[in-house]
Amino acid sequence: MNDQLQQVTHIDNIRLAEDGSSVTILDQTQLPNRTEYLTLRTPEEMYEAILLLRVRGAPAIGICAGYCMYVLARQMDERDYDAFARRFHELKEYLNSSRPTAVNLSWALNRMERVVTNHAGEPVEEILKLLEQECKAIHQEDIQMCRAISEYGLTLLKDGDGILTHCNAGPLATSRYGTALGPLFLGKERGMNFKVFADETRPLLQGARLTSYELQKGGIDVTLICDNMASIVMKNGWINACLVGCDRVAANGDAANKIGTSGVAILAKHYGIPFYVLGPTSTIDLSCKTGDDIEIELRDQKEIREKFYAEPMALPEVKCYNPAFDVTDHTLITGIVTEKGICYPPYTQSLAQLFQSEN
Ligand code: MRU
Repeated sequence: MNDQLQQVTHIDNIRLAEDGSSVTILDQTQLPNRTEYLTLRTPEEMYEAILLLRVRGAPAIGICAGYCMYVLARQMDERDYDAFARRFHELKEYLNSSRPTAVNLSWALNRMERVVTNHAGEPVEEILKLLEQECKAIHQEDIQMCRAISEYGLTLLKDGDGILTHCNAGPLATSRYGTALGPLFLGKERGMNFKVFADETRPLLQGARLTSYELQKGGIDVTLICDNMASIVMKNGWINACLVGCDRVAANGDAANKIGTSGVAILAKHYGIPFYVLGPTSTIDLSCKTGDDIEIELRDQKEIREKFYAEPMALPEVKCYNPAFDVTDHTLITGIVTEKGICYPPYTQSLAQLFQSEN
């Protein structure tokens, strides 16, 4: 693998301090113009980093939240188990309220809390050691999951394929390789070439700021397009497959992902282009029967009116509707690529089987 490609796929985006006193993240809001790291120590700094998308992408949020809970647990004065567990729960709920849609946040926080509840009454010092192991395991497992997703995803592609992607589901959003971008980086490592079209992804421009940055730096042919150009590149015959990430997948295969994803899927169906959702099983939430059960985050209206503009592009009193995610109907999804294999319709069966094989 060439150095540049290795640097992108193995980017150091979330790091636990060796003494466990803080979490350092690569501040994604500063990219592509500045590479700045931010050290998080307090609950408020952690909450703000997740809310403002300094750390973003479903798996990355989960990894970061796991480390944050360990850092916060170490800071607690409580040495009585009940008082420790109570405070741990309060802080967990606080971080969990930062963003509602990506299930990886609550998944990782619940995993950390289970360590506490499974060791009720044991000395806090022992529980801290187990919490450290758990948050490091969440990170390590994500590295392995992304690699496996990349391998499975690559089986769906041919050398020279044109790919359309939306938002950012690359190494920055995960641990390594990414989910939707993982097969492209892995294929590149193996000498394959793809022509990727990256939707800019209004309003927060994850496609422009992060996806085109990662692919360009990794030496993959990438063309940045505005979101409303997806149809023309499909019509031109330039797209062989759409690859997108996910924030929460319901039991029936309905998949929440960055706002605009469902429109891409509808276009893909119109043009007869396969549409794949890639994500780890930690993003599948069988407690949501359908996409209607998924809470969609509503964000600040200013992100539409004025963010990234030199001056506001709408009157301050103009109403805006700013949902951060939408749900792609399962009927539009050709396959869901996980670290355990590729699920095909009917998803109610194929997704359930993924979890049955665990027992
Ligand atoms: O609001 P964001 O930038 O956190 O939204 C991210 C996405 O929608 C990604 O596609 C998803 O989290 C998958 S990342 C591997």
